[in-house]
Amino acid sequence: MKVAVLSGDGIGPEIMTQALRVIDLLIEQRRIDVEIIHAPFGAGSYFDHGHPFPDQTKKICDESDIILKGPVGLNHEDSKKIPIELQPERAAILALRQRYDTFANFRPVFLSPRMSHFSPLKPSVISNGIDFIMIRELVGGLYFGKKTRGEDLAGQRFVEESLEYNEKQIRRVLTIAFELANKRTRRQLHNIHKSNVLLSSVLWNEILEEVASDYPDVSVKNMLVDAAATALCLDPSQFDVMVMENMFGDILSDQAGGIIGSLGLMPSACVGEKKSYFEPSHGSAPDIAGKNIANPYSMIGSIAMMLEMSMNYQIEANEVWVALHSIMEKGYVTADLGAAIDDATIISTEEFGSKVIDILKEVDWSLHPYN
Ligand code: IPM
Ligand code: MN
Repeated sequence: MKVAVLSGDGIGPEIMTQALRVIDLLIEQRRIDVEIIHAPFGAGSYFDHGHPFPDQTKKICDESDIILKGPVGLNHEDSKKIPIELQPERAAILALRQRYDTFANFRPVFLSPRMSHFSPLKPSVISNGIDFIMIRELVGGLYFGKKTRGEDLAGQRFVEESLEYNEKQIRRVLTIAFELANKRTRRQLHNIHKSNVLLSSVLWNEILEEVASDYPDVSVKNMLVDAAATALCLDPSQFDVMVMENMFGDILSDQAGGIIGSLGLMPSACVGEKKSYFEPSHGSAPDIAGKNIANPYSMIGSIAMMLEMSMNYQIEANEVWVALHSIMEKGYVTADLGAAIDDATIISTEEFGSKVIDILKEVDWSLHPYN
């Protein structure tokens, strides 16, 4: 399998380095079939090559089976040094999603009961831990609708952007969500919408009812997006699978990162019909870049998702998850999370990576035949 690696900006390269150590170990110990090809992507690529997603990178991605991407972008002030249409969020990330039509974004939100102290929520709310997955539609809606900017008749600066979905776009992401919910123990799907205001949600909900008839074992709850924001704080353990359109998913998934204590604990998978890519849900955190303090959990978790979802290395993926969780359960954290936790032991980005490697080296793989 050819994997294009786009390390990105800010903390991207340092968390990617730790994630690639995990791949290297699995190549050595489990003979996983992976060839890594690095390519420039993001703000750094704009300054070096004139584009945040240059043609050479497009070619490498086209020729790869899978893409592994770090966070990209600059801080608010530095972003202004790049013309709007070439800023990496638009010209690299959105372009990547569009190019490979990665319509289904899986964002797992997980804290085992023994990790529950990482959450800022009260123990009474969080003590059973959290284990749900957000499915966010990723290539439609406001992000990709028509946009115009100009002046209105009164001479006021004016902007218009449209939230667009067609039936097929809605059906395919809902089908992914139902398939996932149907495989999980609780089989609970929360449909997040705003049909009291948005016509797009009315169509979304209509199609949801049609798709639901194929999944009689999945129990569906419809929840308005604003109410879902409250429910995520008051009782996050009620959720199993949540599905929603692009913009709702962007906002609620960051809120989900907040309730588990850090966006640094949010890996993700962006799945298309032909190609998928894997990335942390968070930004490039330029303020802490290069300090060896960023948590590589989200990047290493993205590797676990890649092994599981695109490579069929389920056993290896499980062991990577076990390693990540056990480090956290033992109270080891990077500085971003450590400040909020009383008896945490602060370790660096690199030490976190080394702990994952040490745990994986101890796995008795002889119990597991090769895939
Ligand atoms: C995310 C990010 C992106 C998004 C940005 C960087 C374009 O916030 O993956 O959630 O809004 O989708
Ligand atoms: Mn986001």
